[in-house]
Amino acid sequence: MKDISTKIKALRDQLNDHNYKYYVMNDPIISDGEYDVIMRDLEALEDANKNLITPDSPTQRVGAPPLKEFGTITHREPMLSLANAMSEEEIHAFYARIKKSLESQNDLELIGEPKLDGLGVELVYENRMFVNGSTRGDGITGENITQNLKTIKSIPLKLRSDLRPTPSLLEVRGEVFINKADFKKLNETREKNDLPAFANPRNAAAGSLRQLDSSVTAERPLSIYCYEAGEVLGTSFAAHLEFLAALKDWGFPVNPEIELIKTPEAMVDYHKKLASIRNNLAYDIDGSVFKINKIQERNTLGIRSRSPRWAIAGKFKAQQVTTKVVGIVASVGRTGAVTPVAQLEAVNVGGVNVTNATLHNQDEVNRKDVRIGDTVILQRAGDVIPEVVKVIIEKRPKQTVQYLLPVECPSCNQNIYRPKDEAVTRCQNASCPAQIKGRIIHFISKSALDIDGFGEKLVDQLVDKNIIQTVDDIFKLTFEKLESLDRMAEKSAHNILSAINNAKKTSFARFIYALGIRNVGYHLSKVLENAFKGNIENFRKSSIENLESIDEVGPIVAETIIKFWEESSNVQIVESCLSLGVELAPISTLKSKKLNGKVFVFTGTLTKFNRDQAKDLVEANGGKTSNSISKKVDFLIAGPGAGSKLKKSEDLAITILTEQAFLDMIK
Ligand code: IVH
Repeated sequence: MKDISTKIKALRDQLNDHNYKYYVMNDPIISDGEYDVIMRDLEALEDANKNLITPDSPTQRVGAPPLKEFGTITHREPMLSLANAMSEEEIHAFYARIKKSLESQNDLELIGEPKLDGLGVELVYENRMFVNGSTRGDGITGENITQNLKTIKSIPLKLRSDLRPTPSLLEVRGEVFINKADFKKLNETREKNDLPAFANPRNAAAGSLRQLDSSVTAERPLSIYCYEAGEVLGTSFAAHLEFLAALKDWGFPVNPEIELIKTPEAMVDYHKKLASIRNNLAYDIDGSVFKINKIQERNTLGIRSRSPRWAIAGKFKAQQVTTKVVGIVASVGRTGAVTPVAQLEAVNVGGVNVTNATLHNQDEVNRKDVRIGDTVILQRAGDVIPEVVKVIIEKRPKQTVQYLLPVECPSCNQNIYRPKDEAVTRCQNASCPAQIKGRIIHFISKSALDIDGFGEKLVDQLVDKNIIQTVDDIFKLTFEKLESLDRMAEKSAHNILSAINNAKKTSFARFIYALGIRNVGYHLSKVLENAFKGNIENFRKSSIENLESIDEVGPIVAETIIKFWEESSNVQIVESCLSLGVELAPISTLKSKKLNGKVFVFTGTLTKFNRDQAKDLVEANGGKTSNSISKKVDFLIAGPGAGSKLKKSEDLAITILTEQAFLDMIK
């Protein structure tokens, strides 16, 4: 049982992580197809273990939270998503299932539509007027993008009433997208103006709809096709086709490829037809959608938590092409991961020109046995980075050799190593040029040295101008060096210097965490601080056995720490920081007894400190923190947006304080 719940948790974490990247960052790293596979695994596990379903599982909600900057709009009816059919068999199974549920003796009536690859939106009309519009958001609540939608010329601002009567309330759902030709022009203009090109039309449409300044949106060539209803008052429809006809009459663009379909064979044919005309269509589609036509039947079938039972999407298979591997190079990322990358003979996959593809790690290279000179099948599914699927062995030239990652870092030439049980090979040199920006940003972050006013742009400039090469160089900054930078006012330069100076007084835990030793997060840094009583010299000299004897330090962490100190430039950086005035407060003097024995829980958005700092403050004053509310808890510190913990604390009569009241307690 424990195994299953661990697995469920891992899947949820993965999905949450991908959801965040996809919905909040607009920067997905896997295709919808891969995401769906994880979601299906989770659904299957939860189906078989219903007692393990929790309200916060990704299966229990429709998507991700909306961005903060726009106001929100709650959809009168949730905007659902579509279940996927991955194969012909699944299309047949869908048909059979529905026929059985409806106890129907006749052919079904289905509507086939292209699955448009854009962004789902909702438009609301009251008494013919467009009153507001929103993104899908998490399906329940979306972002209010009314002003941006108004800039799309194909969206009627007032319903036409010349062809049929209009409803008093109409919610229309549709897909906003950018035509392929418009996309090409848009990117050409951007490149001319030295702006980064968009990766694909979908990202361009998403970026355009999320502009806070709608005059920017107005410059973007957005289109829309409408395809569903939300709530409608004042009129009703017996069938989807009737609704689509009404939409046209009221002035909405409706996709021209829509067809009435009656058999599962015809569904498969329709899907194949879309796949074959896909490249000739003016806009991107990523599959087919089949919907039950009769509204009465839809109501009988009902919905699941995330998707209606009366519709299904047929996803296109990933697009594949063959090309040649002309080289394999190792590349070092900002975190020190050394990744093999295949350099390819340029090839077009689904409209995108591809010249290289990641091979992920040595195990993946071995598994696929990709070699320089090989002809490979390359695949691109949806938005993801193209990937080498397999080598065509028959086409392998003579005298190729197996590829092995170098033993030295391609950026700094120091030895790289692969920790036991890990797939990724890493460079642990804190002065490696490829990693320096990432390391500095980590070094100055809130839980680390917390240097105020030191933003990423400043880091970029300082590194690009060679003023900072390793983190200790931060403490060598002078007024003259800072003033020589672009747009650096005298006052800000002084502020930054004084922030750096203040940051020198820190703790062992913060400093160790700031060094960015792999696998040593903030919590572990605290563990090490206690184990070594804040003495960094003892920490540096500790043996692997000594490290492993510390509670919470396992063999992998112990090994990374040993490897970290084996790198002489890491030792130099630490010594340099200390000689430039970094002081690690002895841990005993940090302790006060103000909160002795008291247990604290923090909830909601914290604005005056982050969670790590909150924990520090409590512990430094002799208290403890907990993650959950129970009778043992003495105080709840609640920031804005506090929810269930606040309620539970009220029920248990736990003292509830604001952040400020907490700070006053320990002043
Ligand atoms: S119907 C419950 N029709 O696909 C009905 N959606 O996975 C869901 N989409 O969020 C909407 N083309 O953004 C529908 N012809 C089409 C569609 C379509 C693309 C998108 C839509 C939705 C997502 C569902």
